[in-house]
Amino acid sequence: MIEKNNSDYLIRMFHVSKSFVAKSALSDISLDIVKNEFVIITGPSGAGKTTFLKLLYLGETASQGQILIDGKNLSRITRKNIPFLRRTFGIIFQDYKLIHTKTVFENIALVLEAAGNKRSYVQKKVKSVLRIVGMEGRNNSYPPSLSGGEQQRVAIARAVVGNPKIILADEPTGSLDPQSAEIIVNLLKKFHKRGATVIIATHDRELIRTTKSRVINLKEGYVQSPKVITI
Ligand SMILES: Nc1ncnc2c1ncn2[C@@H]1O[C@H](COP(=O)(O)OP(=O)(O)OP(=O)(O)O)[C@@H](O)[C@H]1O
Ligand SMILES: [Mg+2]
Repeated sequence: MIEKNNSDYLIRMFHVSKSFVAKSALSDISLDIVKNEFVIITGPSGAGKTTFLKLLYLGETASQGQILIDGKNLSRITRKNIPFLRRTFGIIFQDYKLIHTKTVFENIALVLEAAGNKRSYVQKKVKSVLRIVGMEGRNNSYPPSLSGGEQQRVAIARAVVGNPKIILADEPTGSLDPQSAEIIVNLLKKFHKRGATVIIATHDRELIRTTKSRVINLKEGYVQSPKVITI
């Protein structure tokens, strides 16, 4: 077995559990994800997939155990530093979470403006990322006028525009037809090739079947043997 250097690990979880009131969502998760991995998290509804993603970007805090992101222990991150941690992640939510009263361009520009980038850089970068996701003609459209697949492409553009190290996608193909789903998966693979670490939570058997990648299978909050897919 080849020993890994500490610097190869981007995410390390040590005996992580998450309980909500009267409900255990994740139990005793210990695993590592190395730089530039492409990982699928699967398992039945309620298995803890979304909770797993949330723990990484401090959308929720672990009840027990330790999580290191790029060498930083999440339990030691102060409230003031949470925005810096969040810039490590590009997050694609299942329900897109685009702002309906802002245009496609404005939705994406917001990320770069919040990080204090210059106007000229914002203009250039947003245009370039919209070109990559094939939405360059829709700069001035409002999200409600786009199809689900198009909104998902905008959500991907917003997730990647800040060049995050880690892309998290929660059921990115969940509500799409097979053709739109393929476009979305190919985009995620493209950003993986460009160097990002990609983690997808999904029920999509087709995506699991056609993607040669590591599958982490959750059931009732526990990691199952990789051979048994429980969905
Ligand atoms: N904020 C919360 N408060 C209470 N319980 C919660 C909360 N969030 C999640 N849970 C519970 O934790 C468990 C895991 O939920 P989670 O959303 O992570 O599952 P999931 O695998 O993403 O499911 P799905 O495939 O339906 O999206 C579920 O039983 C859920 O009800
Ligand atoms: Mg979920």
